[in-house]
Amino acid sequence: MTHSLRLGVNIDHVATVRNARGCGYPDPVRAALLAAEAGADGITAHLREDRRHITDEDIARLAAELTVPLNLEMAATDEMLAIALRHRPHAACIVPEKREERTTEGGIDAAGQHDRLAPLVGELGAARIRVSLFIEPDARQIEAAIRLGVPVVELHTGRYAELDGEARSEELRRLSDAAALAAKNGIEVHAGHGLTFDNVGPIAAIPQVRELNIGHFLVGEALFVGLGEAVRRMREEMDAAR
Ligand code: PXP
Repeated sequence: MTHSLRLGVNIDHVATVRNARGCGYPDPVRAALLAAEAGADGITAHLREDRRHITDEDIARLAAELTVPLNLEMAATDEMLAIALRHRPHAACIVPEKREERTTEGGIDAAGQHDRLAPLVGELGAARIRVSLFIEPDARQIEAAIRLGVPVVELHTGRYAELDGEARSEELRRLSDAAALAAKNGIEVHAGHGLTFDNVGPIAAIPQVRELNIGHFLVGEALFVGLGEAVRRMREEMDAAR
């Protein structure tokens, strides 16, 4: 079934738990297959430069075994470009990456890095990989994405997730405005980072948003209710807000 708002489940932190012991379980590919069975429309995995969670072998197995689209999150490096071209995921989301950060702490500066990103976007696009840029919800970044000719942007919802009260409402307005500006210019809008059952509703209700990518909360929730149940409940929250 195709949903008007797709759910991409990020399985990185299944690999984080596996790697904490350095053994073969829990297996992120098994989690991906289970998430898809429970209603995920796609699977997202971030192959970080330091391989702290997902490994090269995980990406090879995901590319071979998944029956839903794979979205590879990657830094804008030659190494990651070569890996993307080798495995040809359905989509590649270009994210900023710093070794010292715990997670992807901000969007990529598409405006400041045009010359570095342009050839990468070109090569991925030529390989028919759907390129997306993970950006902050601001007009300057959307305009840079338009100049780069990307088909998709993913809006960073991390700030929205951390704020509350009027500050959260303000950030939600920024997200809505950015989504409208991108869509008006023919760019498909995705969103993600820090989303939970409690805060997903207003983001899912932004009409231009076509896909949410959610990981850390779902993997945590899976400890209590199981991954299938966590994915099903997230789908319900998204559908209810739509
Ligand atoms: N989208 C992007 C581009 C990300 O980098 C991440 C985190 O890896 C997510 C979505 C998912 O964020 P979270 O794990 O907080 O749900």
